Amino acid sequence: MRDGLLKDSFGRVMRDLRISLTDRCNFRCLYCLPETEAASNFYRGRFDPVRNPKPARLRMPDWKPRSEILTFEEIEFLVRIFARMGITKIRLTGGEPLLRSAVPDVVERIARIPGIEDLAMTSNGFLFARQARALKTAGLKRISFSLDSLDPDNFKKMTGRDGLSEVLRSIELAQEIGMTPVKVNAVIIRGLNEHEIESLAELAQLRDLSFRFIEFMPLDSSRSWQKDLVVPGREILQRLQARFDLHPVPSANPSETARRWRFADGRGEIGIIAPVSEPFCGHCNRVRLTADGRLRTCLFSIHEHDLKGAIRTGASEADLDERIRDIVFHKEDRHHIGEPSFIQPERTMSCIGG
Ligand code: 5AD
Ligand code: SF4
Repeated sequence: MRDGLLKDSFGRVMRDLRISLTDRCNFRCLYCLPETEAASNFYRGRFDPVRNPKPARLRMPDWKPRSEILTFEEIEFLVRIFARMGITKIRLTGGEPLLRSAVPDVVERIARIPGIEDLAMTSNGFLFARQARALKTAGLKRISFSLDSLDPDNFKKMTGRDGLSEVLRSIELAQEIGMTPVKVNAVIIRGLNEHEIESLAELAQLRDLSFRFIEFMPLDSSRSWQKDLVVPGREILQRLQARFDLHPVPSANPSETARRWRFADGRGEIGIIAPVSEPFCGHCNRVRLTADGRLRTCLFSIHEHDLKGAIRTGASEADLDERIRDIVFHKEDRHHIGEPSFIQPERTMSCIGG
């Protein structure tokens, strides 16, 4: 087996592996799986046939059958290999990872792997309460929830579900059991929840949250993304600065995707993630494993690389090590959102994991 870190041809060293545990989800977020009437109406109302000459295609992806999804043993096997190559950080994502009800088992398996220093999860928060303590005991250190709106009607419009109170309760619970700082993600969409930027930041301050405002990326299943729907990070920041006394938080890690600010009174922080208007590809240290065992070197990769097939046909650790190094060596330099050559990947965020 080769020694050394997992590097690409540009010298970037991979440290962060995101693992999607399932492609299924119990939410229908308008920016991810926009299958609801409300989502369809929103996009139709904004469809510009001249500048965006493509019809919105509102359809659900086909869920993968269970047999195609990596087992927890397979995930553990792969994480051991990645950890030996210098991956220190694992984030479990989905779809909605908590739909796999035995998820504390995979958390426990990963938490005990030598070299894994940070183990986090991204969840929509709806099912967190029933698993919270088991996840904590199993070794989950941190959790990120999605919360795009504080208005129950708008929450429902954005996520397709009536779940605001459950998500707020999950945030509180995560704090109570010490998964702090609790991170909360909001995808900001023009004409939909941009008016809530200030109230979301207020919640961050009030509840001492690490709040992330995220630009809308072209990863929705309906391919309805349009540049006009992106609220640029700079605009979000200007609005927040007009309202709050914000101090920049210096970053210790160049691979961090968020630019962060703290409130003058010291509680809570906000971060802005602007992959569309200010790409951070040059410092990217992330790779992604889909629920069906394919390795992706970029959120926007057009090609993905099957590892599950190799495992199931008996590939050795040495074979997989070699294969993973070759795949990662060819990691793309950057994404091409907004350029004429941009092709939206076949897979949506619900399959890739955030
Ligand atoms: N653009 C930006 N962020 C997205 N997410 C999902 N889809 C998109 C998109 N199209 C984010 C949500 C969620 C995380 C898993 O990914 O914030 O919290
Ligand atoms: Fe589900 Fe997350 Fe996609 Fe929303 S963003 S539909 S919660 S996978």
